[in-house]
Amino acid sequence: MKIYNLVTGAAGFVGFSLCLVLLKNGQNIIGIDNINSYYDVSIKKKRISILKKYPNFKFLKIDLRNFKKLKYNLRLYNIKKIFHFAAQAGVRHSINHPEEYVSNNLVATHNLLELCRKKKINRLIFASSSSVYGKPTKKKIKEIHDTNKPLQFYAATKKSCELMAHSYSSMYKIKTTVLRFFTLYGPWGRPDMALFKFTKSILENKKIEVYNYGNHQRDFTYIDDAVMAIIKASNEKLTNKVSYKIYNVGNGKSVKLKYYINLLEKKLKIKAKIKYLPMQKGDVKGILSENKKIKKLKTFQKNKVDVETGVNRFIDWYKKYHKI
Ligand SMILES: NC(=O)c1ccc[n+]([C@@H]2O[C@H](COP(=O)([O-])OP(=O)(O)OC[C@H]3O[C@@H](n4cnc5c(N)ncnc54)[C@H](O)[C@@H]3O)[C@@H](O)[C@H]2O)c1
Repeated sequence: MKIYNLVTGAAGFVGFSLCLVLLKNGQNIIGIDNINSYYDVSIKKKRISILKKYPNFKFLKIDLRNFKKLKYNLRLYNIKKIFHFAAQAGVRHSINHPEEYVSNNLVATHNLLELCRKKKINRLIFASSSSVYGKPTKKKIKEIHDTNKPLQFYAATKKSCELMAHSYSSMYKIKTTVLRFFTLYGPWGRPDMALFKFTKSILENKKIEVYNYGNHQRDFTYIDDAVMAIIKASNEKLTNKVSYKIYNVGNGKSVKLKYYINLLEKKLKIKAKIKYLPMQKGDVKGILSENKKIKKLKTFQKNKVDVETGVNRFIDWYKKYHKI
């Protein structure tokens, strides 16, 4: 019987990028997504059409909130590993739409954990977020730092999912790796995220809105480095004694938003029109990943992609994708 990996959120930025690499490595993948309209559906469909070119890829359009359908559609597959990347993402969207985070993050993740329990799938990789650290109290954030005071509701649901996964891991022996991503970016990125939005507006000669007067600092992490980390972490053998592990996945460098915008301007050869705004509710000024733990898995290529190269690669992709 064929062995499959299941990737939820396969039409999304990270799920898609991971699937591509796994498929090229010859693995059999079932991708699940409900293709919701949180952002432009056409990019999600395009991502899936690329994945469908691989004979070892199967796509199921399923909403994870529908447990019956999920279980029924997967009844004939032998699934060894689940990469659970589907979620209602976006920190800002959670300010006015918290209910979407309850259903797509809490309910959907619980359904997936039930699937693991009922189908006896005992390896899970869960996409969490650096936002679980709330307002950082240290320059570099370690996995052991406090995660009990999330600020945005998005972060609260991610932390809750981590806790549910921990309980299932200990009760039902599901070996679980939690990956806390720090601002991922790159080709096929999310249209609701800064890099995509800024590029679009600059090219259309529109003003960009920059919070905290451009002084926000982020640990921008290039998608290929993150995918490498995901794969290495998923191959780590966990034991019954250590059946639940958490890793930060960041680049390890703090970059000012102003600098990020400068890079965009340079590459696009257009000066951005900027509307500077104060901090927004729930915003965090700066956050930086301590990567010592994940480095032990020899995760990253020797040279991680720096932000200068990463932004250039994104713009090249953006122009090609939009035929500019
Ligand atoms: N991109 C980042 O910088 C970042 C940072 C931290 C954490 N994360 C987490 O990583 C994961 C992937 O993020 P992304 O950037 O690829 O987001 P994304 O929005 O591009 O992908 C998520 C996908 O999940 C799907 N989905 C949502 N609810 C669903 C449901 N109920 N049933 C089935 N499919 C559903 C969406 O249609 C979407 O295609 C998410 O869990 C996100 O919270 C991402």
